[in-house]
Amino acid sequence: MIIGKRVRLRAVERSDLPAFVNWLNDPEVREFLMVYSPLSNEQEERWFKEILEQPVYNQPLTIEVREGESWIPVGNCSFHVQDWRIRAAELGIFIGEKAYWGKGYGAEVMRLLLDHGFKILNLNRIYLRVYENNHRAIRAYEKAGFVHEGRMRQAEYRNGNYEDVLLMSVLRSEWQGKEEDRG
Ligand SMILES: CC(C)(COP(=O)(O)OP(=O)(O)OC[C@H]1O[C@@H](n2cnc3c(N)ncnc32)[C@H](O)[C@@H]1OP(=O)(O)O)[C@@H](O)C(=O)NCCC(=O)NCCS
Repeated sequence: MIIGKRVRLRAVERSDLPAFVNWLNDPEVREFLMVYSPLSNEQEERWFKEILEQPVYNQPLTIEVREGESWIPVGNCSFHVQDWRIRAAELGIFIGEKAYWGKGYGAEVMRLLLDHGFKILNLNRIYLRVYENNHRAIRAYEKAGFVHEGRMRQAEYRNGNYEDVLLMSVLRSEWQGKEEDRG
């Protein structure tokens, strides 16, 4: 497991799937995700089988939040490494339990993923794509150290409009500088 102060990341279990289906069918949760069709348990089961065929570093992780002595599943996150030669990976995240939004958990997950990506996976560049009007996500990524690097114009179509997609990233050199600052 990847363990932080208030959150931990663990492998996805089959028992997580019903919660994932509920979250991903919630219009507020999926508003800023690349999910636009209703999702069935059967489809999620197929997704689960497919992820188990992926290399371990690309397998999604369940996000759990510490509540007293318990750990509560609240969402998931993942790395996607396409080509090891470039040592770059794309991150994805959602917190499906809306009561846990805006409490700093997303930024903490991103910091844990950055540490894991640079220290364990030996990546050099970690990036993500985010819709231009997903202000909460953008702020969470900025807090975790992501830098704005570009804008893909009208790269998404949602709710009858084309929308820009922002690219954000952290390079190993930037993350190392911050680690030294943290002591
Ligand atoms: C995006 C997400 C992972 C962020 O996690 P989170 O735990 O909610 O985020 P954090 O609490 O760490 O940070 C959110 C920040 O945005 C701020 N914020 C919230 N709503 C905002 C808004 N409408 N405009 C600007 N800032 C906003 C919060 O105040 C906080 O900043 P602060 O700590 O400086 O006050 C989570 O909200 C989520 O999963 N949302 C639904 C799915 C999604 O959008 N996934 C990302 C796709 S790219």
